[in-house]
Amino acid sequence: MTPILQTKTPLHFINPDKDALVADFVGKPLNALRTPAFVVDRALFAKNCRKMHENARDWGATFRGHLKTHKTVEGTKLQLISNVGRASAVVVSTLMEAWGVVQGGLVADGTVKDLLYGLPVGLNKLDDLSALHAEMTKYGGTVRILIDHLDQVKFLEEYERAQEHPKKWSVFIKMNGGLQRAGILPEPVSFKAFMRRVFASPAISVFGFYTHAGYSYASTSLEQATSHLTGEVRLTNDAATMALEVLADPFVLSVGSTPTALSASAEAKLKMTSTLNGTLELHTGNYTMLDLQQLHTTLIGRPQISQKVLATVISYYPGRGSDGLDEAMCDAGGIAMSKDTGRIPGFGEVIGKSWKLGRISQEHGILVQVPPDPESGRTDSALRVGDIIEIVGQHACLIAAAHSWYYVKGSDKVVDIWIPWKGW
Ligand SMILES: Cc1ncc(COP(=O)(O)O)c(C=O)c1O
Repeated sequence: MTPILQTKTPLHFINPDKDALVADFVGKPLNALRTPAFVVDRALFAKNCRKMHENARDWGATFRGHLKTHKTVEGTKLQLISNVGRASAVVVSTLMEAWGVVQGGLVADGTVKDLLYGLPVGLNKLDDLSALHAEMTKYGGTVRILIDHLDQVKFLEEYERAQEHPKKWSVFIKMNGGLQRAGILPEPVSFKAFMRRVFASPAISVFGFYTHAGYSYASTSLEQATSHLTGEVRLTNDAATMALEVLADPFVLSVGSTPTALSASAEAKLKMTSTLNGTLELHTGNYTMLDLQQLHTTLIGRPQISQKVLATVISYYPGRGSDGLDEAMCDAGGIAMSKDTGRIPGFGEVIGKSWKLGRISQEHGILVQVPPDPESGRTDSALRVGDIIEIVGQHACLIAAAHSWYYVKGSDKVVDIWIPWKGW
């Protein structure tokens, strides 16, 4: 039987402290970690970051890193600085990510100069965003916001009118490309009326048009992902073209999701036939870690996935599953793996074994044997109580968000601990 690790809970597990966690774990092998444990392969994460700099360069775009997947100082640096290039623009999905960037010293040291708050602006967040903007401008940086409704414009104006020194907000107009999440539709009459109102606002300066083709996660080929990428560009470019009829100004066309960004290349650029009324910016986040949802697109292979969850097999149930297959229980459930699903069945794949994470409750994960191989007729019954297994789940962003710190691995040992920014 595998030797069983015993751990006591120190105080810094409750209030994570990087120095104390580094002292506990750096140099330790992965099987010495308390499970469930979220593990990031630093070299693979950095390689994914480097590759995206190449994609942006070859496709002819500047790069904006979305920080929502890892939410860490260390991950931000790898996203922005590689031996291919350097970018200084980020997009965040929470104010805590934004303040994490500031407090992590990334604005003061010039790593981040342009920070976009990537949800349509919440009207109760303007004081905080203003404070953030003041902090960034001290170092020559800027905060940008997203808008997609005229009530936001009205509120920004009222808010600025009440200030001693009113400012103009640099905004991206969020475009709805069919995801039906946020954004306005490029319907010419209503869009131009919207833009006229926005351009007339003393509280706003339009920086560009932004879209995110979340539906591109359904791609199953490079061709489909490239077509979604071209669609994102067409949408933002149509918006810029219509906006130019209202006001002649250069715009930034900001596009991307992991599948479309992975498809950005010199060849994809050649497929864009229309003249662009703006400069291209590629934004993306999940590509740093990757997961089963991205594996299903066929744009990546298993060796590129830089994250996994370690879990311990805590019980075993012979013949309990469908068709008499075995089941086992592990200590990684919904709050270690998320309950996100994808087109690959199950909640996760066990690396190197023919088992899947088939069902999950809050802290329990039910492992199910994969049906017998049709050629050999064999099933994998090699799991034992006490085994440590490695699981790749469906959606890295939500899985990472479930963990209080990440074990960052080198070749076979922990080399660092990253503590993510929590909260909203
Ligand atoms: C507004 C916005 N922009 C960009 C992204 C990045 O997409 P991805 O993580 O697929 O690269 C996301 C992800 O959800 C998003 O919500």
